[in-house]
Amino acid sequence: MRITQASQLLPPVQRGEQLTVTINGQPVTAFAGETVATVLLAEGRRVFRHTLKNGDPRGLFCGMGICYDCLVTVDGAPNIRACITLVTAGMVIETHSEMRL
Ligand code: FES
Repeated sequence: MRITQASQLLPPVQRGEQLTVTINGQPVTAFAGETVATVLLAEGRRVFRHTLKNGDPRGLFCGMGICYDCLVTVDGAPNIRACITLVTAGMVIETHSEMRL
């Protein structure tokens, strides 16, 4: 779910061009200027991956590229930080949340 208006006192949120990306094989609407993490959260996904050692869930934590908790696969490239990667039209995003090693 995306915010459409932050407050009655503020103008409606303006978004970039509408795009379609794929998350785990499902087409999803995104907007230019959004990060991969934004799109995942807007789609209700809180777990992006699980830790290798204990299988603990990880998702957005620092939100600024420092912690590496938000790693996903983008267009076949593994270990991309979702919080600092902007979506592009046709991008293929795979979370590791369904994968257990
Ligand atoms: S949430 Fe910390 S690097 Fe992305």
